[in-house]
Amino acid sequence: MNAIEIRNKYLNFFKNHGHAIIPSASLIPENDPSVLFTTAGMQPLVPYLLGEKHPEGTRLCDYQKCVRTVDIDEVGDNRHLTYFEMLGNWSLGDYFKEESIKMSFEFLTKELQIPVEKLSVTVFAGDEDAPRDEESARIWKEAGMPEDHIYYFGKDDNWWIAGEEGPCGPDTEMFYDTGKAPCSAECNPSCDCGKYVEIWNNVFMEYYKDKNGYSKLKQRNVDTGLGLERMNMLLQGKETPYDTEIFEPIMTKLKELAKVDNLQSRRIVAEHLRSSIMIISDGGRPSNVDRGYVLRRLIRRMTRHLNKLGIDLNELENLILLNIDVLKEMYPELQDNKEKIKNILVEEKNKFVKTLAHGEKEFEKAIAKAKQENKTQLDAPTAFRLYDTYGFPPELTKDLAQEQGFTIDMDGFDKLFKEHQEKSRQGSEQKFKGGLADQSEQTIEYHTATHLLHKALQIVLGEHATQKGSNLTSERLRFDFAHPEKLTKEQIEEVERIVNEQIKRDLKVTCEEMTLEEAKKSGAMGLFENKYGEKVKVYTIGDFSKEICGGPHVEHTGNMGTFKIKKEEASSAGVRRIKAVLIKE
Ligand code: SER
Repeated sequence: MNAIEIRNKYLNFFKNHGHAIIPSASLIPENDPSVLFTTAGMQPLVPYLLGEKHPEGTRLCDYQKCVRTVDIDEVGDNRHLTYFEMLGNWSLGDYFKEESIKMSFEFLTKELQIPVEKLSVTVFAGDEDAPRDEESARIWKEAGMPEDHIYYFGKDDNWWIAGEEGPCGPDTEMFYDTGKAPCSAECNPSCDCGKYVEIWNNVFMEYYKDKNGYSKLKQRNVDTGLGLERMNMLLQGKETPYDTEIFEPIMTKLKELAKVDNLQSRRIVAEHLRSSIMIISDGGRPSNVDRGYVLRRLIRRMTRHLNKLGIDLNELENLILLNIDVLKEMYPELQDNKEKIKNILVEEKNKFVKTLAHGEKEFEKAIAKAKQENKTQLDAPTAFRLYDTYGFPPELTKDLAQEQGFTIDMDGFDKLFKEHQEKSRQGSEQKFKGGLADQSEQTIEYHTATHLLHKALQIVLGEHATQKGSNLTSERLRFDFAHPEKLTKEQIEEVERIVNEQIKRDLKVTCEEMTLEEAKKSGAMGLFENKYGEKVKVYTIGDFSKEICGGPHVEHTGNMGTFKIKKEEASSAGVRRIKAVLIKE
């Protein structure tokens, strides 16, 4: 079996159990500034987990493209990846523990034919916030899991929440026993020694956590996630994902091209290249802030390791094309985005090559001096200078230092970095708060205001002024749209006037579910280059606007306040950006 076969088996299995297959959302979250990338299958579904109706029903499944960068500097070992695919199935107030566990057991043992002896599960041990999950343990046992393969653990292991706030609950995790010898008599699935590998996580999401503690959600949900690369590796009996068909062709090519034999560098290049390709394909661009900076770091570290392997950097273009060829069956969109991906990656690599050599020289000098002083740690000001002047991301400097037997003063670096950040991003501390995940009244009002603005722009500027991006907080909206030139003062005033007129008319906002075809026919606006499921929700604001959207929105426009455009500026070539606020009397 290979990855795409596992993916298809999974989606078909859940389809046969009444689930609608929905498309993967973009890696770049739309309308959710609380995260830089989509990090789990549940993330694009947060409004529905909180009670918003999903057009495809109450049973969903998908494969979701995910990027997690917390462990970026671990990449190169045998398991950490920054990009991965998560297979997931969801119950939105539909089935709960019984059906969820039984379906998982059936899928693992019948569809994937994993012998029961190789499986173990963990369930929540209980604490003051939620009871011991004896129900899940019982269901596992009834399904056929031997009792001594069922373990109880506390919140650290068996509770799932994305970040600090949001829908959450106890989970039951499934583990695969690789057959390695136990590391000690106490070795169990919570142990990191490599004997047990987590393969699937079913979260019984019936709580919401905020700063005041836990409360019950409107509905009981199930949110599951199965890491595809990992499952693929285990089923093929491979030790690392790099030994499977996803990475193997590029790893072989790197070995062929390299003048220096270094497995860790080959893995870093292969992994970061795949992540960069996926991020760029979904619209990410290298820059110095936020997600653009994550992408930049991936590309720079990859470039440095290519260099270290002694591979001619002009080979990057061929490596990109080869990698797209390997991945395009799983992600057909890569084929269409091929030129764009290649150009952006090569250009970014070229930019960095100029400073890479200078930075390395600077590093050598600093290390020589540190060695003379009998130090084993590179000081923070040097690491920060390498970052600030030569564009060396800290993990890159860490790689360089490690190669010389040195550590770097990361705490000191972080401190300098924060001071620098504070200076250069005054006033943007609200940026990571809010978003649709918070569903505050204000954020919802800004969401509705975005629809009014979109329509008003089309009236004033023409139909070409379509949405290119949107980002909401509880304090402002930001909207990117296609338009070749700066708006005039008159145009801005006219857009404001139209939006405010619709607010005053106290228009009713209604929502209908229909197929994508019907939505198009009805004249609904939508980001048609985006993937939608077969069924979509269409939000109509009185007689003024009709747009495909997941919601939520206000019920009436009347109480939204006065709409004011604070800024109109260029966002990228052919795209303008508006920041606007709603002022309450
Ligand atoms: N959200 C859970 C996870 O990421 C299950 O999908 O593990």
